[in-house]
Amino acid sequence: MNLEIDGPTATIYLNRPDKKNAMNPQMHRDMNEALDAIEADRGVKVVVVTGNGDSFSAGMDLEECFLRPFEDPMEFYRTNEVALNWFKRLKAFPAVTVAKVNGFSFGGGVLLAGICDLAVASETALFGLSEINFGIFPAGGATWAAAHNLPRKQALYYILTGATFTGREAEAYGLVNKAVPLDELDAATDRIVRKLVNKNPVTLSLAKHVYEHNRATDLPAAIDYDQAKLWELSRLTGNEWVNVALKQFEKRSYQPGLSTYDRVEAKS
Ligand code: COA
Repeated sequence: MNLEIDGPTATIYLNRPDKKNAMNPQMHRDMNEALDAIEADRGVKVVVVTGNGDSFSAGMDLEECFLRPFEDPMEFYRTNEVALNWFKRLKAFPAVTVAKVNGFSFGGGVLLAGICDLAVASETALFGLSEINFGIFPAGGATWAAAHNLPRKQALYYILTGATFTGREAEAYGLVNKAVPLDELDAATDRIVRKLVNKNPVTLSLAKHVYEHNRATDLPAAIDYDQAKLWELSRLTGNEWVNVALKQFEKRSYQPGLSTYDRVEAKS
């Protein structure tokens, strides 16, 4: 696994191309370390996750994570706990996460695309919840990812049949924001990243947190939560939305419907 940090953007490359980026225990340990390094950096606003070679990820390494440790329950538990730990961390990560799905995405690969906040895929990327094909249901969060990213009939169809679907179909279902020809994947992802990195990182972080919280609540509770978090945002950003953004609007230097305020005079 490789990690590149370039100012506000971190890119994690899953790097076992000869194994279709199947996630083995070493990769799971590396992912936890990559997330540690990104969090420690503090300047990162967006994390892009992608694969080297022709695959995003063929999911969990079926031999190293399941077959080999299976006879020793504690070894099996510990091996997979490392994976489950970073899946949970990535889902709740403070920076915005973007999956750049460049090819095969099976099982844990669907999970990974599904837990990221945003996703872009090549039109020809191939997705599948293939667990049923080796006798289990999608576990470790993969059923959650299917249930939260695909319409119900499609989720159940792919969970129950193990059939594959393309990047273009993933866009139609809503698993990815956009599917583009493979040679446009980097540019399409960069366009999204550029829109994100000129935003206040505290606001980005709270925006995704509030979205996730409010999905699971009713409107009165959501309104109360919004208002409490808005004051938290104000304090943590030094009231940037009023002192910078709305002051610039007062001077008509931008139209918030069409563009964003200039953060050059803001702190981070
Ligand atoms: N676990 C372990 N090894 C895997 C793997 C996985 N999830 N996915 C691929 N590999 C290995 C292959 O076994 C092969 O190893 P080898 O070179 O030692 O024989 C190597 O990666 C290359 O894969 P190969 O099958 O030759 O490539 P392909 O392009 O013909 O097919 C896939 C690609 C992804 C369709 C196929 O490898 C596959 O079905 N993988 C399993 C996908 C899966 O069920 N994932 C769910 C896990 S939760």
